[in-house]
Parts: sequence; structure tokens; C-alpha cells
Amino acid sequence: MSTGEETRKEPTQQSGPHFEPTARDVRRTERFVAVSFLVGFLATVGLAVAYWYRGNDQALGLALGLATAALGVGVTVWGKYLMPQGPFVQQRHDLPSTSEVRGAYKDSFERGVTVFRRRSVLGKLLGLAAGSLGVVALFPFVRSLGPQPKKALFVTSWRKGSLLVQADGRPVHSDDLEVGGIMTVFPEHDSNAAISQTILIRPSAVPFTTQPGRETWTPKGYVAYSKVCTHAGCPVALYEEQTQQMLCPCHQSVFNILSGAVPVFGPAPRPLPQLALYIDKRGFLRSQGPYNEPVGPGFWERGGGPA
Ligand code: FES
Repeated sequence: MSTGEETRKEPTQQSGPHFEPTARDVRRTERFVAVSFLVGFLATVGLAVAYWYRGNDQALGLALGLATAALGVGVTVWGKYLMPQGPFVQQRHDLPSTSEVRGAYKDSFERGVTVFRRRSVLGKLLGLAAGSLGVVALFPFVRSLGPQPKKALFVTSWRKGSLLVQADGRPVHSDDLEVGGIMTVFPEHDSNAAISQTILIRPSAVPFTTQPGRETWTPKGYVAYSKVCTHAGCPVALYEEQTQQMLCPCHQSVFNILSGAVPVFGPAPRPLPQLALYIDKRGFLRSQGPYNEPVGPGFWERGGGPA
């Protein structure tokens, strides 16, 4: 019969070689891994640059392939040749451990910590390469948002004194439309600008006031509104002379042209912006300035500058 102390076998300690790298030349292997991560990082930067400047697919594929391959090689070599390999088997016996066992465990644990600490530079390089690849992966989402609109959506080509012209560039004379007539006009020198397209109507032979403060905006009964619907941007092109209303064919918004194109039906949230007109000395129609409001969908209600 034996005592507990006699039967307790000392646990097998992790021998030194378990925690040592298996690489024959550790320094050289570390350098190889570091270079792999650096190559991965540089390839990722190349990928970002190629993507930003819309490089061709081959360049993008090459950079992405090189980045992932370099990262993969680095991680694999690191794990295979610089990390402890095991298998780590430790016999467990009666508890509590002796002070020698605890001391041995502490020693072996600290040896492992030392191994990890020694690779901190590689860890940082891995973070740099993998992190930059993660950031570059966001580029397609960012670019899919499209170019920045900047002020383009707030500004049309209408200025003070802009000559009204038709799509073919012919100036609009004050005798061109009969009462009840309608045409699409543009500002001179920008006769293809969708955002500046304007519907010119002559509902009356004499001036009239669409809203207080707009007494001089309708010379000889001509009135002009933005053709871009304030609901979703469709062209408002259907004019009904009997009711003096404009209809947007997309979702049937109806605007009263005698009262400042206020919507009287449909989803349009606000009136069509009006263009103040005047007739020059030669009888041609010109704008007094830009539209009274930004053109286009209801987004503008959340704030915007002059059109
Ligand atoms: S776009 Fe005009 S009503 Fe919807």
C-alpha cells in the first residue's frame, strides 16, 4: 500500500523543443514572413490605386491575387515554422499540484509567451496587410454611390437675361405662341440640359399674376415653369387648356399653372419652380434670373440654394 504522495507521478513537463520554432533558420524565416506581409500590403495599396483610377480587370485581379497569396503564404509559413507545433500532452494527476509542478508550469507558460512576444512585429505586419485589404474591400461600396453631385443639382443654366431657345437653338419670340400654345424651351447655349428644360405656356394674351410678388413674371401672358416634376423628376409635359392644368404622366400629379403650378392632385409635394420672364427690345423672351426654387423631386424641400 502506498501513500498518495508516493503514488503521485510528476506531470510530464513540456520539454524545450515543443516551444521552439521548427524552422531551421528562424531569423531567415521571420524575414520571409515579414516580406510576405509587406508584399501583401503593397499589393493591396496597388489594388486600391488601380481601383480608384479604374484600372482594367487584369490589373485588379493581379493585385488582389498577389495580396491574398502573399498574406496566405505569410500566415502559413508563420504557423508552420515559427509557432510551437505540439502535440502537447500533459498527464493530469491528483490535485493539488506540488510547488515544483506549479513552478514548471509557470516556466513553460512564460516560454510560450516569449515565443508570441518575439513575433509581435510579424503580428503588426499581418494586421497592416490584412487590415488594408479589408479597407480596400469597401471601395466598391463607396464607388457605387456614384460621383458627388456637388452643387450641380442646385443650379441650372438659367441666368439673368438668358434667352429662351427651342431645342434646335432658335430663340423664342413673343409672337411665336398663340394663346393656348405650349413649347419646351432651354436657356441659350445649353439647349440640351435636362435639368434646365422649361415648359413655356401662353394661357392668356395679357400678363397675369401667379403668386403675390410675381406681378412682372408673365409678359404678354407667357408663363414658364420647370419641366422636371417635383415628385420623382419625370417631364411634366401634358397641358390641358380648358382647366389650365399641367399633368405629369408618371404618377398623375396635376399642377395649376395660373396659381404658380401648385399641385392640386397627386404625389408631387410642392409647386413646379417658376421662371420669371421679360421681353427684350427685339421682342424675344428672356429670363429675369434663375428659377425661384431648386428644381426636381421633393428632396429639395429639406433645404437647398437658389436654382
Ligand atoms: S414623377 Fe411626376 S407625379 Fe411622379
